[in-house]
Amino acid sequence: MLAFVIFAVTFVVVLIGAVIYLYPGSKRVTTIPGLDPSDPKDGNIPDIGKAGSMHDFLLDLHEDYGPIASFWWGTKLAVSIASPELFKEHQSVFDRPPDLFALFKPLIGADSIQYANGADGRKRRNLYDKAFSHDAVRYYMGIFNELVAELVTKMKTLPKDEHIPLQQYSTALVLKGIARTSFGDYFKDDKACLAFRKNYDICWHEMEHSLAHGLPEEGTDRDKAFKQARAQMLSTIEAIIKQRRDNPPPPERQLFIDILLENNFPEAQIKCDTLSYVIGGFHTSANLLAWTLYFIATHQDIQEKLHKEIESVLGDEDVESSHITQLTYLRQVLDESLRTSVLAPWAARFQDIDTMLGGHVIPKGTPVIHALGVTLQDEERWPHPEKFDPDRFSPENSKQRDKFAFQPFGFAGKRICPGYRFAYGEISVFLAVLCRAFKFNIVEGQVVEPVYGFVTAPKEEVWVTVEKR
Ligand code: HEM
Repeated sequence: MLAFVIFAVTFVVVLIGAVIYLYPGSKRVTTIPGLDPSDPKDGNIPDIGKAGSMHDFLLDLHEDYGPIASFWWGTKLAVSIASPELFKEHQSVFDRPPDLFALFKPLIGADSIQYANGADGRKRRNLYDKAFSHDAVRYYMGIFNELVAELVTKMKTLPKDEHIPLQQYSTALVLKGIARTSFGDYFKDDKACLAFRKNYDICWHEMEHSLAHGLPEEGTDRDKAFKQARAQMLSTIEAIIKQRRDNPPPPERQLFIDILLENNFPEAQIKCDTLSYVIGGFHTSANLLAWTLYFIATHQDIQEKLHKEIESVLGDEDVESSHITQLTYLRQVLDESLRTSVLAPWAARFQDIDTMLGGHVIPKGTPVIHALGVTLQDEERWPHPEKFDPDRFSPENSKQRDKFAFQPFGFAGKRICPGYRFAYGEISVFLAVLCRAFKFNIVEGQVVEPVYGFVTAPKEEVWVTVEKR
């Protein structure tokens, strides 16, 4: 009898505890540990601002609550995961939560692939991905070689000890890379690239700012500058589309833009996806090139080892795809640059049914953030995570690591970044040819600090000098 009373009392206490814990009137609508909202309307969004960035916020969140943690995106519960085991559990989810990326809409437009879920998203990816396949990237190698050769020629004419702005140079080169391979001849004109970049910088600055502080108020100077810059980018996009429609290429020379044009997609989708792929195609990769050159300029031993490999694999030849597989140390350098810089710190998914993750119920519609950057800086898997050490990616070390510990391009639902092969191919060519031609030195006295936005970039321009090899 006594045992029954103890059982009954315990049962009731546990039941009451569970009801209090899960009852929506309390802020705990989930068993996932995490933050209560700090503001009834904005949830923890002000805390993201205070942390400095979403990545910094997620680092603190996971430090405090472990690999699965919750917080409030406005009045909506959000969950973040940061471990290879949890990533694996979430690997088949395709759909993106529209709310979390709504801030981007004023830039890329509501019809962008970014917001395309379900059958529409899958259909677009199936068609578009052909333009960034292994074979397609092989086809682009000639253009990559041509572009970087032009830059090497220009750099050879610079006076000795000239200070070179790394981000500016990297962005110009990489923007030409995606523009020429995917959008045809419009961007052959350097001035068109430059104008596009200038307008993009104005818009991107507002996007990054809006994540923590909201968009500029309508009618303010900042609002007007944003709208004007975006309108100019759109008129460039319209000119690219017109030029391609007026001069259709033969089938064997079709590019990404031609796939968009030949499938009778609505005009708004064509424009939004052109913009999304130009932006996706240059912003992250340009920062990868800039970060990599910065890391090797500050680690001369690594630069020498890399140079030796490039000399022995390439000699004087142009880079072909057969060389890329032999440039194994170069790939280690790129992977370690992606990791150390935390280039793209997070992705996200959602499902419209209740699901289980890490033993917890995820209520339907809850955004689940993939804290890619937190995982890339996890001390247990990456000892001294701030240290730049390409040997972490040696074949022996990589073999011992769970592949989900390194997912800088995302991983879920076959919606990994469509440009990952393209980025590796393009940046390998650029890095190999630049390092063969020059030794990069950092200009002393700079403090190089990362700013973790949607993409991680150095806070200020990074300056280097080069010596001809
Ligand atoms: C180092 C370079 C790059 C990095 C680190 C990177 C990273 C990422 C990440 C993390 C995502 C989100 C994936 C997800 O939701 O799971 C993404 C999506 C995307 N990326 Fe990249 N990216 C890079 C280069 C490129 C390039 C070269 C292109 C263009 C060819 C591109 C176009 C896109 C597009 C269009 C999406 C959205 C795809 C969709 O909605 O299905 N990215 N990228």
